[in-house]
Amino acid sequence: EDGIRDIGVTGVQTCALPIYVSEMTTTIKQLKDFEGQEVTLNGWVYNIRSIGKIWFLILRDGTGLVQCVVVKAETDEAIFNLESELTQESSVTVTGMVRAEPRSVGGFELGVTNIEVHQIAEEYPISHKEHGTDFLMNNRHLWLRSKNQNAILRVRHQVIKATRDFFDDNGFTLMDSPILTGNSVEGTSTLFELEYFDRSAYLTQSGQLYGEASAMAFGNIYVFGPTFRAEKSKTRRHLTEFWMVEPEMAYCDLDENMTWAEKYVSYVVQWCLEHCKEELKILERDTSGLEKVVPPFPRITYDEAAKILQEKGTDFTYGSDFGGTDETIISEQFDRPVMIHRWPAEIKAFYMKRDVNNDNLALGVDMIAPEGYGEIIGGGQREDDHDLLLGRIKEHKLPVEPLQWYLDLRKYGSVPHSGFGLGIERTVGWITGVKHIRETIPYPRTMYRID
Ligand code: 4AD
Ligand code: MG
Repeated sequence: EDGIRDIGVTGVQTCALPIYVSEMTTTIKQLKDFEGQEVTLNGWVYNIRSIGKIWFLILRDGTGLVQCVVVKAETDEAIFNLESELTQESSVTVTGMVRAEPRSVGGFELGVTNIEVHQIAEEYPISHKEHGTDFLMNNRHLWLRSKNQNAILRVRHQVIKATRDFFDDNGFTLMDSPILTGNSVEGTSTLFELEYFDRSAYLTQSGQLYGEASAMAFGNIYVFGPTFRAEKSKTRRHLTEFWMVEPEMAYCDLDENMTWAEKYVSYVVQWCLEHCKEELKILERDTSGLEKVVPPFPRITYDEAAKILQEKGTDFTYGSDFGGTDETIISEQFDRPVMIHRWPAEIKAFYMKRDVNNDNLALGVDMIAPEGYGEIIGGGQREDDHDLLLGRIKEHKLPVEPLQWYLDLRKYGSVPHSGFGLGIERTVGWITGVKHIRETIPYPRTMYRID
Protein backbone atom coordinates (compact mmCIF):
# COMPACT_ATOMS: atom_id res chain seq x y z
CA GLU A 1 0.00 0.00 0.00
CA ASP A 2 2.76 2.42 0.86
CA GLY A 3 4.95 1.25 -2.01
CA ILE A 4 7.23 -0.89 0.14
CA ARG A 5 7.57 -4.34 -1.33
CA ASP A 6 7.48 -7.11 1.24
CA ILE A 7 10.66 -9.10 0.69
CA GLY A 8 9.40 -11.87 2.93
CA VAL A 9 12.10 -11.84 5.60
CA THR A 10 10.95 -11.66 9.17
CA GLY A 11 12.94 -9.54 11.53
CA VAL A 12 14.76 -7.66 8.78
CA GLN A 13 14.39 -3.92 8.90
CA THR A 14 13.09 -2.37 5.70
CA CYS A 15 13.94 1.17 4.77
CA ALA A 16 11.43 3.81 3.74
CA LEU A 17 12.41 3.75 0.07
CA PRO A 18 10.69 1.13 -2.08
CA ILE A 19 12.71 -1.51 -3.89
CA TYR A 20 12.99 -0.58 -7.56
CA VAL A 21 10.84 -2.82 -9.74
CA SER A 22 11.37 -2.51 -13.49
CA GLU A 23 8.17 -1.75 -15.37
CA MET A 24 9.78 -2.26 -18.76
CA THR A 25 10.39 -5.99 -18.74
CA THR A 26 9.53 -9.03 -16.73
CA THR A 27 11.83 -11.89 -15.71
CA ILE A 28 11.11 -15.59 -16.09
CA LYS A 29 11.02 -16.00 -12.33
CA GLN A 30 8.16 -13.49 -12.12
CA LEU A 31 5.95 -15.15 -14.77
CA LYS A 32 3.60 -16.72 -12.24
CA ASP A 33 2.30 -13.22 -11.44
CA PHE A 34 1.42 -12.59 -15.10
CA GLU A 35 -0.77 -15.51 -16.13
CA GLY A 36 -3.11 -14.47 -18.95
CA GLN A 37 -1.14 -11.28 -19.64
CA GLU A 38 1.29 -10.27 -22.35
CA VAL A 39 4.89 -9.82 -21.20
CA THR A 40 8.26 -8.98 -22.72
CA LEU A 41 11.33 -11.02 -21.72
CA ASN A 42 14.99 -10.19 -22.41
CA GLY A 43 17.23 -13.20 -22.72
CA TRP A 44 19.25 -15.71 -24.71
CA VAL A 45 18.33 -18.75 -26.78
CA TYR A 46 18.98 -21.85 -24.69
CA ASN A 47 17.65 -24.38 -27.16
CA ILE A 48 15.30 -24.74 -30.15
CA ARG A 49 13.03 -27.65 -31.01
CA SER A 50 10.75 -27.86 -34.02
CA ILE A 51 7.75 -30.01 -34.91
CA GLY A 52 6.88 -28.47 -38.31
CA LYS A 53 4.14 -25.89 -37.97
CA ILE A 54 5.19 -25.13 -34.40
CA TRP A 55 8.62 -24.51 -32.92
CA PHE A 56 9.78 -24.01 -29.38
CA LEU A 57 12.36 -21.54 -28.23
CA ILE A 58 13.70 -22.36 -24.77
CA LEU A 59 14.63 -18.94 -23.44
CA ARG A 60 16.95 -18.29 -20.51
CA ASP A 61 17.30 -14.94 -18.81
CA GLY A 62 19.45 -15.78 -15.80
CA THR A 63 16.45 -16.17 -13.50
CA GLY A 64 15.20 -19.37 -15.13
CA LEU A 65 14.12 -21.09 -18.33
CA VAL A 66 10.82 -20.82 -20.16
CA GLN A 67 9.42 -22.51 -23.23
CA CYS A 68 8.24 -20.00 -25.87
CA VAL A 69 5.85 -21.46 -28.43
CA VAL A 70 5.89 -20.07 -31.99
CA VAL A 71 2.88 -21.16 -34.08
CA LYS A 72 2.86 -20.60 -37.85
CA ALA A 73 -0.80 -19.63 -37.94
CA GLU A 74 -0.40 -17.10 -35.10
CA THR A 75 2.76 -15.09 -36.00
CA ASP A 76 4.21 -13.08 -38.90
CA GLU A 77 6.10 -15.11 -41.45
CA ALA A 78 9.35 -13.26 -40.68
CA ILE A 79 9.10 -14.27 -37.04
CA PHE A 80 8.15 -17.83 -37.80
CA ASN A 81 11.16 -18.09 -40.15
CA LEU A 82 13.59 -17.10 -37.36
CA GLU A 83 13.66 -20.75 -36.40
CA SER A 84 16.33 -21.48 -39.01
CA GLU A 85 18.39 -18.38 -38.12
CA LEU A 86 18.55 -18.40 -34.35
CA THR A 87 21.52 -20.18 -32.82
CA GLN A 88 22.24 -21.24 -29.25
CA GLU A 89 22.97 -18.14 -27.08
CA SER A 90 21.66 -15.61 -29.62
CA SER A 91 20.31 -12.62 -27.71
CA VAL A 92 16.60 -11.93 -28.15
CA THR A 93 13.67 -10.02 -26.68
CA VAL A 94 10.50 -12.11 -26.77
CA THR A 95 6.94 -10.86 -26.32
CA GLY A 96 4.04 -13.20 -25.72
CA MET A 97 1.10 -14.36 -23.61
CA VAL A 98 1.77 -16.19 -20.34
CA ARG A 99 -0.09 -19.51 -20.14
CA ALA A 100 -0.08 -22.16 -17.45
CA GLU A 101 1.69 -25.31 -18.64
CA PRO A 102 2.13 -27.83 -15.85
CA ARG A 103 4.56 -29.96 -17.88
CA SER A 104 7.18 -27.22 -18.30
CA VAL A 105 9.78 -26.14 -15.70
CA GLY A 106 8.34 -23.32 -13.66
CA GLY A 107 4.78 -24.27 -14.71
CA PHE A 108 4.33 -21.64 -17.44
CA GLU A 109 4.98 -21.10 -21.13
CA LEU A 110 4.80 -18.16 -23.51
CA GLY A 111 2.61 -17.96 -26.64
CA VAL A 112 4.92 -15.83 -28.82
CA THR A 113 3.64 -12.72 -30.61
CA ASN A 114 7.01 -11.07 -31.36
CA ILE A 115 10.77 -11.76 -31.29
CA GLU A 116 13.36 -9.02 -31.57
CA VAL A 117 16.88 -10.28 -32.39
CA HIS A 118 19.87 -8.45 -30.90
CA GLN A 119 22.68 -10.70 -32.07
CA ILE A 120 22.91 -14.03 -33.80
CA ALA A 121 25.56 -15.86 -31.76
CA GLU A 122 28.58 -17.54 -33.31
CA GLU A 123 28.74 -21.28 -32.93
CA TYR A 124 28.67 -21.80 -29.16
CA PRO A 125 31.39 -24.06 -27.75
CA ILE A 126 29.21 -25.65 -25.07
CA SER A 127 26.49 -27.78 -26.60
CA HIS A 128 23.84 -29.72 -24.72
CA LYS A 129 25.87 -32.93 -24.93
CA GLU A 130 28.43 -34.09 -22.36
CA HIS A 131 31.75 -32.27 -22.08
CA GLY A 132 34.81 -33.00 -19.93
CA THR A 133 35.30 -30.94 -16.76
CA ASP A 134 38.60 -29.48 -17.92
CA PHE A 135 37.01 -28.22 -21.13
CA LEU A 136 34.10 -26.79 -19.16
CA MET A 137 36.43 -25.12 -16.65
CA ASN A 138 38.43 -23.57 -19.50
CA ASN A 139 35.10 -22.14 -20.60
CA ARG A 140 33.92 -21.26 -17.10
CA HIS A 141 33.01 -17.74 -18.31
CA LEU A 142 30.41 -19.39 -20.58
CA TRP A 143 29.66 -22.53 -18.55
CA LEU A 144 28.01 -20.29 -15.90
CA ARG A 145 25.09 -19.95 -18.33
CA SER A 146 24.26 -23.66 -18.15
CA LYS A 147 21.20 -24.74 -16.21
CA ASN A 148 22.92 -26.67 -13.42
CA GLN A 149 25.75 -24.19 -12.87
CA ASN A 150 23.21 -21.42 -12.74
CA ALA A 151 21.17 -23.31 -10.14
CA ILE A 152 24.22 -24.05 -7.95
CA LEU A 153 25.30 -20.41 -7.88
CA ARG A 154 21.78 -19.24 -7.13
CA VAL A 155 21.87 -21.50 -4.07
CA ARG A 156 25.25 -19.97 -3.17
CA HIS A 157 23.62 -16.55 -3.24
CA GLN A 158 20.90 -17.74 -0.87
CA VAL A 159 23.45 -19.36 1.48
CA ILE A 160 25.23 -16.02 1.71
CA LYS A 161 22.01 -14.08 2.10
CA ALA A 162 20.84 -16.42 4.87
CA THR A 163 24.25 -16.10 6.54
CA ARG A 164 24.05 -12.33 6.63
CA ASP A 165 20.42 -12.35 7.77
CA PHE A 166 21.16 -14.82 10.55
CA PHE A 167 24.02 -12.86 12.07
CA ASP A 168 22.48 -9.44 11.44
CA ASP A 169 19.18 -10.46 13.04
CA ASN A 170 20.96 -11.97 16.03
CA GLY A 171 22.75 -8.76 16.89
CA PHE A 172 26.18 -9.48 15.36
CA THR A 173 28.12 -6.60 13.80
CA LEU A 174 29.93 -7.17 10.52
CA MET A 175 33.65 -6.44 11.04
CA ASP A 176 35.80 -7.27 8.06
CA SER A 177 39.35 -8.44 8.62
CA PRO A 178 42.18 -7.48 6.27
CA ILE A 179 43.16 -9.70 3.35
CA LEU A 180 46.80 -8.61 3.48
CA THR A 181 48.37 -9.62 6.76
CA GLY A 182 51.72 -9.84 8.48
CA ASN A 183 51.14 -13.12 10.32
CA SER A 184 49.85 -16.66 9.84
CA VAL A 185 46.75 -18.06 11.58
CA GLU A 186 46.44 -21.66 10.48
CA GLY A 187 50.06 -22.79 10.40
CA THR A 188 52.79 -21.65 8.07
CA SER A 189 52.68 -24.43 5.47
CA THR A 190 49.76 -23.05 3.45
CA LEU A 191 50.72 -19.37 3.39
CA PHE A 192 50.73 -17.39 0.18
CA GLU A 193 53.59 -14.97 0.56
CA LEU A 194 53.92 -11.79 -1.46
CA GLU A 195 56.20 -8.83 -1.78
CA TYR A 196 54.89 -5.92 0.20
CA PHE A 197 57.09 -2.91 -0.57
CA ASP A 198 60.32 -3.53 1.33
CA ARG A 199 59.04 -6.52 3.32
CA SER A 200 56.92 -9.58 2.77
CA ALA A 201 53.28 -10.10 3.65
CA TYR A 202 50.72 -12.90 3.34
CA LEU A 203 47.24 -13.42 2.00
CA THR A 204 45.00 -14.15 4.97
CA GLN A 205 44.19 -17.77 5.82
CA SER A 206 41.42 -16.73 8.21
CA GLY A 207 40.08 -13.48 9.62
CA GLN A 208 39.90 -14.94 13.11
CA LEU A 209 42.67 -13.13 14.97
CA TYR A 210 41.40 -9.72 13.88
CA GLY A 211 37.89 -11.02 14.59
CA GLU A 212 38.94 -11.55 18.20
CA ALA A 213 40.12 -7.96 18.47
CA SER A 214 36.83 -6.81 16.89
CA ALA A 215 34.82 -8.91 19.39
CA MET A 216 36.57 -7.17 22.30
CA ALA A 217 35.50 -3.86 20.76
CA PHE A 218 31.97 -4.72 19.57
CA GLY A 219 30.77 -7.83 21.43
CA ASN A 220 29.43 -10.36 18.94
CA ILE A 221 30.84 -9.83 15.46
CA TYR A 222 31.25 -11.72 12.22
CA VAL A 223 33.94 -11.58 9.58
CA PHE A 224 32.99 -12.51 6.05
CA GLY A 225 35.39 -12.55 3.17
CA PRO A 226 37.74 -14.47 0.93
CA THR A 227 40.52 -16.49 2.52
CA PHE A 228 43.55 -18.11 0.92
CA ARG A 229 45.53 -21.28 1.41
CA ALA A 230 48.36 -22.62 -0.68
CA GLU A 231 46.82 -26.10 -0.56
CA LYS A 232 48.92 -28.58 -2.41
CA SER A 233 46.25 -31.21 -2.02
CA LYS A 234 44.20 -31.95 -5.10
CA THR A 235 40.96 -33.00 -3.42
CA ARG A 236 37.36 -32.19 -4.22
CA ARG A 237 37.16 -30.24 -0.95
CA HIS A 238 40.06 -27.83 -1.34
CA LEU A 239 40.35 -24.52 -3.13
CA THR A 240 43.21 -22.06 -2.81
CA GLU A 241 40.74 -19.17 -2.57
CA PHE A 242 37.50 -19.72 -0.67
CA TRP A 243 34.99 -17.67 1.29
CA MET A 244 34.65 -18.04 5.02
CA VAL A 245 32.18 -16.61 7.51
CA GLU A 246 33.68 -16.28 10.97
CA PRO A 247 31.55 -15.24 13.94
CA GLU A 248 33.45 -14.38 17.12
CA MET A 249 31.70 -13.95 20.46
CA ALA A 250 33.00 -12.26 23.61
CA TYR A 251 31.97 -13.93 26.88
CA CYS A 252 31.25 -17.21 25.15
CA ASP A 253 32.51 -20.71 25.95
CA LEU A 254 32.84 -23.82 23.79
CA ASP A 255 29.31 -25.09 24.53
CA GLU A 256 27.66 -21.81 23.61
CA ASN A 257 29.85 -21.64 20.52
CA MET A 258 28.47 -25.02 19.42
CA THR A 259 24.93 -23.79 20.05
CA TRP A 260 25.53 -20.80 17.74
CA ALA A 261 27.02 -23.11 15.12
CA GLU A 262 24.05 -25.49 15.05
CA LYS A 263 21.51 -22.65 15.06
CA TYR A 264 23.29 -20.94 12.18
CA VAL A 265 23.76 -24.03 10.01
CA SER A 266 20.12 -25.10 10.55
CA TYR A 267 18.92 -21.64 9.59
CA VAL A 268 20.91 -21.65 6.35
CA VAL A 269 19.73 -25.13 5.35
CA GLN A 270 16.07 -24.46 6.15
CA TRP A 271 16.23 -21.11 4.33
CA CYS A 272 17.56 -22.80 1.21
CA LEU A 273 14.95 -25.57 1.34
CA GLU A 274 12.27 -22.90 1.39
CA HIS A 275 13.79 -20.48 -1.14
CA CYS A 276 15.70 -22.69 -3.58
CA LYS A 277 13.02 -25.26 -4.41
CA GLU A 278 13.34 -24.75 -8.17
CA GLU A 279 17.15 -24.91 -8.06
CA LEU A 280 17.24 -28.06 -5.93
CA LYS A 281 14.76 -29.66 -8.32
CA ILE A 282 16.94 -28.82 -11.33
CA LEU A 283 19.91 -30.34 -9.48
CA GLU A 284 17.83 -33.43 -8.61
CA ARG A 285 18.87 -33.06 -4.98
CA ASP A 286 17.15 -35.52 -2.66
CA THR A 287 16.28 -33.12 0.16
CA SER A 288 15.05 -35.65 2.73
CA GLY A 289 18.38 -35.52 4.60
CA LEU A 290 18.47 -31.73 4.61
CA GLU A 291 14.98 -31.56 6.09
CA LYS A 292 16.30 -33.22 9.26
CA VAL A 293 18.88 -30.49 9.81
CA VAL A 294 17.44 -28.79 12.91
CA PRO A 295 18.97 -28.31 16.38
CA PRO A 296 20.20 -30.02 18.45
CA PHE A 297 23.10 -31.59 16.55
CA PRO A 298 24.96 -34.51 18.13
CA ARG A 299 28.10 -33.45 20.04
CA ILE A 300 30.81 -36.04 20.54
CA THR A 301 34.40 -35.80 21.77
CA TYR A 302 37.40 -36.62 19.64
CA ASP A 303 37.85 -39.73 21.81
CA GLU A 304 34.31 -40.89 21.04
CA ALA A 305 34.83 -40.27 17.33
CA ALA A 306 38.11 -42.23 17.44
CA LYS A 307 36.28 -45.10 19.12
CA ILE A 308 33.71 -45.21 16.30
CA LEU A 309 36.54 -45.57 13.80
CA GLN A 310 38.29 -48.26 15.82
CA GLU A 311 35.04 -50.22 16.16
CA LYS A 312 34.55 -50.02 12.39
CA GLY A 313 38.00 -51.53 11.98
CA THR A 314 39.60 -48.65 10.07
CA ASP A 315 43.37 -48.10 10.17
CA PHE A 316 42.97 -44.76 11.94
CA THR A 317 45.65 -44.05 14.56
CA TYR A 318 44.65 -42.25 17.74
CA GLY A 319 46.06 -38.74 17.93
CA SER A 320 45.96 -37.95 14.23
CA ASP A 321 43.51 -35.77 12.33
CA PHE A 322 40.54 -37.40 10.62
CA GLY A 323 40.84 -37.94 6.90
CA GLY A 324 38.00 -37.59 4.40
CA THR A 325 37.01 -41.26 4.68
CA ASP A 326 37.15 -41.13 8.49
CA GLU A 327 34.82 -38.12 8.47
CA THR A 328 32.38 -39.95 6.23
CA ILE A 329 32.31 -43.01 8.49
CA ILE A 330 31.75 -40.86 11.59
CA SER A 331 29.02 -38.79 9.92
CA GLU A 332 27.18 -41.91 8.75
CA GLN A 333 26.36 -42.67 12.41
CA PHE A 334 24.14 -39.58 12.61
CA ASP A 335 21.22 -38.11 10.67
CA ARG A 336 22.38 -34.49 10.97
CA PRO A 337 25.71 -32.67 11.14
CA VAL A 338 27.90 -33.89 14.01
CA MET A 339 30.14 -31.68 16.13
CA ILE A 340 33.41 -33.20 17.32
CA HIS A 341 35.04 -31.36 20.22
CA ARG A 342 38.06 -31.65 22.56
CA TRP A 343 40.93 -32.55 20.27
CA PRO A 344 44.50 -33.62 20.96
CA ALA A 345 46.17 -30.23 21.38
CA GLU A 346 49.18 -31.14 19.18
CA ILE A 347 47.09 -31.28 16.01
CA LYS A 348 45.23 -28.02 16.61
CA ALA A 349 46.23 -24.37 16.23
CA PHE A 350 48.28 -22.39 18.76
CA TYR A 351 45.40 -20.16 19.85
CA MET A 352 43.11 -22.86 21.26
CA LYS A 353 42.31 -22.93 24.97
CA ARG A 354 42.96 -26.19 26.81
CA ASP A 355 40.36 -28.23 28.66
CA VAL A 356 40.59 -27.51 32.43
CA ASN A 357 40.17 -31.23 33.12
CA ASN A 358 42.84 -32.39 30.67
CA ASP A 359 45.65 -30.14 29.53
CA ASN A 360 46.35 -32.34 26.50
CA LEU A 361 42.98 -31.51 24.99
CA ALA A 362 42.23 -28.36 23.01
CA LEU A 363 38.73 -26.85 23.19
CA GLY A 364 38.31 -26.98 19.43
CA VAL A 365 35.24 -28.09 17.51
CA ASP A 366 34.77 -29.33 13.95
CA MET A 367 31.35 -29.77 12.37
CA ILE A 368 31.09 -32.61 9.87
CA ALA A 369 28.28 -32.46 7.31
CA PRO A 370 26.25 -35.62 6.61
CA GLU A 371 26.36 -37.66 3.39
CA GLY A 372 30.14 -37.52 3.04
CA TYR A 373 30.50 -33.77 2.48
CA GLY A 374 33.11 -33.52 5.22
CA GLU A 375 34.17 -30.74 7.56
CA ILE A 376 32.25 -27.52 7.04
CA ILE A 377 33.15 -25.75 10.30
CA GLY A 378 36.32 -25.41 12.35
CA GLY A 379 36.38 -23.34 15.54
CA GLY A 380 36.68 -23.35 19.28
CA GLN A 381 37.33 -21.47 22.48
CA ARG A 382 40.41 -19.24 22.41
CA GLU A 383 43.25 -19.10 24.92
CA ASP A 384 42.55 -15.98 26.96
CA ASP A 385 45.57 -16.08 29.32
CA HIS A 386 48.48 -13.94 28.22
CA ASP A 387 51.35 -16.08 29.47
CA LEU A 388 49.87 -19.37 28.29
CA LEU A 389 49.25 -17.89 24.85
CA LEU A 390 52.77 -16.48 24.64
CA GLY A 391 54.12 -19.92 25.53
CA ARG A 392 52.05 -21.56 22.76
CA ILE A 393 53.23 -19.07 20.16
CA LYS A 394 56.79 -20.01 21.07
CA GLU A 395 56.03 -23.75 21.12
CA HIS A 396 54.61 -23.46 17.60
CA LYS A 397 57.79 -21.57 16.59
CA LEU A 398 55.78 -18.58 15.41
CA PRO A 399 57.41 -15.13 15.53
CA VAL A 400 56.15 -13.23 18.58
CA GLU A 401 56.62 -9.72 17.23
CA PRO A 402 53.87 -9.81 14.53
CA LEU A 403 51.46 -11.22 17.15
CA GLN A 404 52.19 -8.63 19.82
CA TRP A 405 48.91 -6.86 19.07
CA TYR A 406 47.09 -10.18 19.48
CA LEU A 407 48.73 -10.72 22.87
CA ASP A 408 47.54 -7.22 23.87
CA LEU A 409 43.95 -8.54 23.81
CA ARG A 410 44.95 -10.71 26.81
CA LYS A 411 46.28 -7.71 28.73
CA TYR A 412 43.34 -5.35 28.59
CA GLY A 413 40.19 -6.96 29.94
CA SER A 414 40.66 -10.49 28.68
CA VAL A 415 37.49 -12.62 28.69
CA PRO A 416 36.48 -16.15 27.64
CA HIS A 417 35.65 -15.98 23.96
CA SER A 418 34.94 -18.34 21.12
CA GLY A 419 34.14 -18.47 17.45
CA PHE A 420 34.18 -20.57 14.35
CA GLY A 421 34.68 -20.43 10.60
CA LEU A 422 32.32 -21.96 8.04
CA GLY A 423 33.49 -22.58 4.49
CA ILE A 424 30.83 -21.28 2.10
CA GLU A 425 31.84 -23.52 -0.82
CA ARG A 426 31.73 -26.77 1.15
CA THR A 427 28.36 -25.77 2.56
CA VAL A 428 26.98 -24.99 -0.90
CA GLY A 429 28.40 -28.32 -2.12
CA TRP A 430 26.54 -30.16 0.61
CA ILE A 431 23.22 -28.34 0.14
CA THR A 432 23.25 -28.67 -3.66
CA GLY A 433 24.66 -32.20 -3.65
CA VAL A 434 27.61 -31.20 -5.86
CA LYS A 435 30.55 -33.50 -5.22
CA HIS A 436 33.39 -31.17 -6.23
CA ILE A 437 33.52 -27.72 -4.68
CA ARG A 438 35.00 -26.13 -7.79
CA GLU A 439 31.42 -25.78 -9.09
CA THR A 440 30.22 -23.91 -5.99
CA ILE A 441 32.15 -20.67 -6.63
CA PRO A 442 31.83 -18.64 -9.84
CA TYR A 443 35.54 -18.63 -10.72
CA PRO A 444 37.39 -21.34 -8.76
CA ARG A 445 41.08 -21.18 -7.94
CA THR A 446 43.04 -24.37 -7.33
CA MET A 447 46.68 -25.37 -7.44
CA TYR A 448 46.33 -25.95 -11.18
CA ARG A 449 43.94 -23.22 -12.16
CA ILE A 450 44.33 -19.45 -11.94
CA ASP A 451 42.55 -18.72 -15.25
O1 4AD B 1 39.11 -25.35 10.06
P1 4AD B 1 39.67 -24.07 9.53
O2 4AD B 1 41.07 -24.09 9.05
O3 4AD B 1 39.47 -23.02 10.69
C1 4AD B 1 39.91 -21.72 10.68
O4 4AD B 1 40.44 -21.16 9.75
C2 4AD B 1 39.57 -20.96 11.95
N1 4AD B 1 40.57 -19.90 12.10
C3 4AD B 1 38.17 -20.41 11.83
C4 4AD B 1 37.71 -19.68 13.07
O5 4AD B 1 37.66 -20.25 14.14
N2 4AD B 1 37.34 -18.41 12.93
O6 4AD B 1 38.75 -23.55 8.34
C5 4AD B 1 37.37 -23.32 8.56
C6 4AD B 1 36.54 -23.88 7.42
C7 4AD B 1 36.68 -25.39 7.22
O7 4AD B 1 35.88 -26.11 8.11
C8 4AD B 1 36.22 -25.53 5.78
O8 4AD B 1 34.81 -25.50 5.69
C9 4AD B 1 36.77 -24.27 5.14
O9 4AD B 1 36.96 -23.33 6.18
N3 4AD B 1 38.04 -24.52 4.46
C10 4AD B 1 38.19 -24.66 3.13
N4 4AD B 1 37.28 -24.62 2.13
C11 4AD B 1 37.73 -24.78 0.87
N5 4AD B 1 39.03 -24.94 0.54
C12 4AD B 1 39.98 -24.98 1.50
N6 4AD B 1 41.26 -25.12 1.18
C13 4AD B 1 39.57 -24.83 2.88
N7 4AD B 1 40.22 -24.81 4.06
C14 4AD B 1 39.28 -24.62 5.00
MG1 MG C 1 39.64 -27.35 10.12
